[in-house]
This record gives sequence, structure tokens and C-alpha cells, in this order.
Amino acid sequence: MHKQSPSSEKLSTSDLIAMMGSTPRASITPRGSMMQKQVQGLSVDQVQEALLGLLADASDTVIQDIITPFVRPHEDYVRIQQLLLENMERGLNPATHDHAPVQMYPTYVRDVPNGGETGQSLALEFGSHHLRIELVTLENGTCNLDSKNGFISEKLLKTGTAEQLFDFLASFVHRFLKQRDLLNTAEPLPMGFTFAFPCRRLALNRAVLTHWTKSVHVEGVEGQEVVALLEAAFKKKGEINIVVDAVVNDTVGTLLSGAFEDPTCAIGIILSKGVNACYMERLDRVGTWDGDQDPPLQVVIDTEWYGFGSDGCLDFFMNEYDRDLDEHAKSPGKGTYEKMISGEHLGELVRLVLAKLRDCDIMFQDHWSEELNTRGRFYTKYISESLSEEDIRFVHTRHVWEDLHLPQASEIECRVLHHFRLVAAPDRSGRGAALAAAVAERIKGGNLDPPVPMVNNSDGASGGADEKPEETPLVTQPEVKASEAIVGAALKDNDADNA
Ligand code: BGC
Repeated sequence: MHKQSPSSEKLSTSDLIAMMGSTPRASITPRGSMMQKQVQGLSVDQVQEALLGLLADASDTVIQDIITPFVRPHEDYVRIQQLLLENMERGLNPATHDHAPVQMYPTYVRDVPNGGETGQSLALEFGSHHLRIELVTLENGTCNLDSKNGFISEKLLKTGTAEQLFDFLASFVHRFLKQRDLLNTAEPLPMGFTFAFPCRRLALNRAVLTHWTKSVHVEGVEGQEVVALLEAAFKKKGEINIVVDAVVNDTVGTLLSGAFEDPTCAIGIILSKGVNACYMERLDRVGTWDGDQDPPLQVVIDTEWYGFGSDGCLDFFMNEYDRDLDEHAKSPGKGTYEKMISGEHLGELVRLVLAKLRDCDIMFQDHWSEELNTRGRFYTKYISESLSEEDIRFVHTRHVWEDLHLPQASEIECRVLHHFRLVAAPDRSGRGAALAAAVAERIKGGNLDPPVPMVNNSDGASGGADEKPEETPLVTQPEVKASEAIVGAALKDNDADNA
């Protein structure tokens, strides 16, 4: 039996959490080690040494062009943290909001669940290629999911129209309802729509897409209300009796589902093909808030930090590879931080480094492939494959080279690829950690009532309680340390996104 669909302004947290389903989550944890000092049991210094050992004849070039750009002083990450805090203020201030690179959208979500919620709802999630629909049942502190995954083609995402996209979503939902015998129900089924793109919110169930990210370019959706487009497609398809009561960002879904498991969860972070975070903010600090002033005096803010740096404030941090990536991307100068950190661009980063090694005559002198000359052709999934390498014969890494039509790659080339990503990964994760730390800093010190402590809400990827803290943390405040859980979650999600 389904709950009646409540009016969107009055949705309880149980309604919301049921609607958001099981969005995967990354986490921030106060315990465990920082990820910067160790990767796969080796210290970063050891990895660098190994890399230099492999390429001993060219050690000066390797240090200058390959290692140094990815090994940044601690102060740089702290400065990033500081800059994001300033950018967050700009986004929340009505005088500066319109041109703020970090938009800080108030979401109309005013509370998080406490784990005691009950109810049933549908949840639809669309974030780029991957789709998911779930029938979520909350009961006795547990969350039962009946779900189905789907996939949207590159062609539709890059060249499709609004009608084609939303018709596709409606057909996907229709198939699911049919299989569950839920077509033409007497009462409307409540649904939460997780739409993982930047949106200006008009109400809990009304959101206008400001612009596409993650290389999606479906015509006719920017500037439109996405729930209206979805409901129109349901109507056109027929037999679907659904009311969309809430539309949220994937970070908000992450926060809500995290809070259902642990009510002290305070931040939702996604580090995947796209990157973003949300957190609960005190209402009196949200100058752009135009909703009611009833308790609770707080609202979840969708930071949309992917645009951080598009005003040039991160130029000091960008290395030559970041700049190359940005210049050759579809929208140079936009989504700067997303390019510097997200899974979508990790593979290209490695390709650029390999090209550099070739240009400097260090490797690949007598073999190279068209694929390695092609932007975007070194997929991020190759890095994940190489990450799982334990075989001294480099079975996974060889498979990567074969896929790139470079079967004759030498053992040294396998080793270099293996070691290089051990140098680059901590830098990327450090960049993510600096941002997570900034958001944690913002909510630290009890800006909410009651104060929100930081929690470990990981899905198992975080450091265990028995891990020793690192001597030199990346970010100074102990409670704002992001853990390797973030890196783990990012890489895990990237696997899915880039497969
Ligand atoms: C979008 C965010 C989203 C993030 C993670 C970014 O590109 O702008 O809204 O939360 O990707 O999916």
C-alpha cells in the first residue's frame, strides 16, 4: 500500500528519504588516516623514488615535468579550502550571487531523516549515462529497495532533444511499473526525482536546469522546469499515475540517505564523473533564501562547487596538464574545478602525461598509437583497472595497452603507468579533500541547532578505527579531514561512470 502523496511544502523527512532511494555516498570521517601519505602501502616518496628509478636516465625531466606538477605543498590545499569558503559566501549573498562561480542553491529541504521514518515511494535517479528507479520501503529503521538500473546512450545525451530524453525516462519508468503491476493505480504514486545537474529551485518539487554539465547537451532543457518535463512525458506515455513530490540533486539524496543510517550525517558529497557537495546551512546565513521563516531555521544548500575557479582564483594551482585539459574542453574556463578533479577527466590527464613522456623522448620512442593521440581515448576505467593490479606480470595493465593498440609496451612502460597514477591520485584526492574540508569548516562550531558533529558514514571504503593517524595531515583541523573513503568512493563511482 502506498502513502498518499502529501503536498510538497509539507513533505516529511520520511517522504523525502523514501523518495531519494539509495544514492551511493561518499563520506567524511574524523577517524582513520589521511590518504595523502600512503597509497597501496607505499609512501608517496617511495612511489616517486620508484618512478625515478625506472626512468633514471631522464630523472631531471621526470622530476620537473611529471612529478612536481602533482606534488603540491600542504599550504596550497589549505588555500583552496579558504578560497572555497570565500566563494560560498559570495554564492549565499544576494548582492554577489548572480555572478558567483559557486552558486550555493537553497534546496527547500529543511531537515534530514532520523532513521525512524516509515513509508513507501518511488525514486528515479538520472545523473548522465546511468539511470535507476527504485521502489523504496522504509520500515523499522530499515530501507528496502526494489530497483532497476538503466543506461542512456551517448548519442541521446549529446545530440538528443528534451522530448527524446524525457520520453526515454518515461518509458523506463513505465517498464518498471508494468513489471511490478503498478500501472494505472487508483491513487497517485509519490516519486522523488534525483536530477544530478545544477538547478535553481523554485519549490521542493520545482527546479529549473541552469545548464548541463558532465558533457551532456540535450537540447531544450536548459532554462526549463525538469519536473514539468518529466510529468508531461508520463502523461504522454499513459498508464503512469505518478506525482513528483520532490526534485533533488544527487548530493542531497546522498545526505538524506546517509542521515537515515546515521542522523549526525551533515554533508553529502559526490566525487564521480561530476563533483559536488551539499550541507545543511543556518537560514540566517542564506541571504538568497526567499521561503518561509518557520522552524527548523535551516536549509540544505546545494553548493554546485563544480564552477569553483572559473573566475581564475585557482590559476595558481593549475598545472600544465590542468591548463591543457581546460583549453581543449568543450567549455574552456567553465566548470574549472570539476575538470581538475572529476573522474571524467582523470583518464585524459594520464594520456597527457604519457604524451609528455613521449615528447621528451623518455618512453614510447618507437611505438605509439593513434588512440593515444586522441583526446578522451584514455578512459578513466583504465586507471581503475591498473589500480587493481597485483600481478607482477601486469596482466591488467597489459590489457589497457592492448586496448590502446600498444601491445608491444615494455615492462618499464607498464611499471611507469602503474606508478604514475600513484603519484597523481593523491593530488586529485587532495583537491577533493580540500573542498570537503572547507564545507566541514563551514558547519563546524555548531552553526546548527543542535550542533552537527562530523561522522563516518562511509560505505566501507574508509579507514578503519584501528588505522594510525598520519603525522602530517593534509588539512589542519582534525575534524575536517577527508579520508580515503572519498577517493575510494570516487574511483568506485568512476568505474560505473566510465565503464
Ligand atoms: C553537477 C552537480 C552534480 C555533480 C555530481 C555536477 O556536474 O553540476 O549537480 O551533483 O555533477 O553528479
